[in-house]
Amino acid sequence: ITQADLTADQHLMVGGVDTLALAQKYQTPLYVYDTGAIRQEINAFKAVFDANDVPYQISYASKAFAAVAMYQIAAQEGIHCDVVSGGEMYTAKQAGFPMDRISFHGNNKSIDELTQALDYGVGCIMVDNFYEMQLLTDLTNQREQTVQVMLRVAPGISAHTHDYISTGQEDSKFGFDLNSGQADEAVKLAQAAPYLDLIGIHCHIGSQIFELDGFKMIVDKLVTIFARWQTTLGFYPRVMNVGGGFGVKYTSEDQPLLPTEFVDAIVKETIAQTKAQKVPMLEIWIEPGRSLVATAGMTLYTLGASKDIPGIRKYLAVDGGMGDNIRPALYDAKYEAVLAKNPTLPSKEVVSIAGKYCESGDMLIWNQKLPATQPGDVLAVLDTGAYGYSMASNYNRNPRPAVVFCENGHDQLVVQRETFADLTRLDVPLVTPEKIEN
Ligand code: LLP
Repeated sequence: ITQADLTADQHLMVGGVDTLALAQKYQTPLYVYDTGAIRQEINAFKAVFDANDVPYQISYASKAFAAVAMYQIAAQEGIHCDVVSGGEMYTAKQAGFPMDRISFHGNNKSIDELTQALDYGVGCIMVDNFYEMQLLTDLTNQREQTVQVMLRVAPGISAHTHDYISTGQEDSKFGFDLNSGQADEAVKLAQAAPYLDLIGIHCHIGSQIFELDGFKMIVDKLVTIFARWQTTLGFYPRVMNVGGGFGVKYTSEDQPLLPTEFVDAIVKETIAQTKAQKVPMLEIWIEPGRSLVATAGMTLYTLGASKDIPGIRKYLAVDGGMGDNIRPALYDAKYEAVLAKNPTLPSKEVVSIAGKYCESGDMLIWNQKLPATQPGDVLAVLDTGAYGYSMASNYNRNPRPAVVFCENGHDQLVVQRETFADLTRLDVPLVTPEKIEN
């Protein structure tokens, strides 16, 4: 946090708006985004591709944060989006997002979802498995409708946060296996299907990746296989989609490369490999989710109860928790929080930030230094823009928070706060309110 992020009286700002004013206006818990920061991340990716002068496409992995307004931002910036369900596809359509810029992912797309994708005219369907290949072949034959497809392959390389394994087969539910010939078989099936236009190959090796090696290895492996396919199958893809997964800095301990450094390396490796193997250059697609939205978002909470166990721990409780951010409980994810009224105050004591949900695992942050606080203070948990709102739940029948976009000093509500009435909206009362004894 720099002075540029603070108002004259030291309040934390987001997109040029005072977070205390936002908490007042919209209540807490509240997700707030600096949409200018999202645009900057998108443009940083574009700049790397442009500097290397290669054909490319950026497809926002909208699972990281999907809402009508977010698809509108992606549309304004001229990028593609990937969707992984009928619901995301529907939301993008409601947003007026151009359907020819949608890629449809998933390891078990239903017939209804595939039909929806064909009805909407999505740009590309990522075929994941043989069952889906058959469904889509039958559907497109019946409809006499051509659709662009990519094959998702499992390259047998998985990247984890700090290491990667490359040995043998990756045990994954996603994609056609590359090592056992399944992918070759899938290429042949797609080639034989009259209405499937096979434009490329897709793979995704993981999320929150900090190291380059995994990406370089998939580029090397894919280009080698493409060169073989050119000879053996008469197929050479136009597009190589390397997925997303570029890591972001959640805490001061995280030291990832910049997302753009990953992409620069991927591009240079692709240029080098295609030259070395004497095959045509590929159009490179990336699917960043987290890296476009994580650090652009934060969650505002109000502090309430506290519990000090002498010599053991001090808990500060906020008015949200695992319902609006499941990541600490689910993945042991780490976040940092600041006091919105003055993030630069010297931190005095070590505290742990608890949620309001009825289980002990509902902790947002363990052991972080904070200045002295009082009930009613607004706490900003930083960098919650990815997989926060999108994984939110109504656990304990808590309404999900609102989402506000801020940019250039303006704020706009983009998702309303749920109400109690929303919580019972889908409940169907018993037809016989009196218990019937038989
Ligand atoms: N493309 C595909 C095919 C994916 O499966 C994913 C994420 C992405 C792109 C985007 O990856 P990203 O750039 O966001 O790392 N809920 C978890 C993350 C799950 C990611 C699943 N796939 C979390 O909160 O960390």
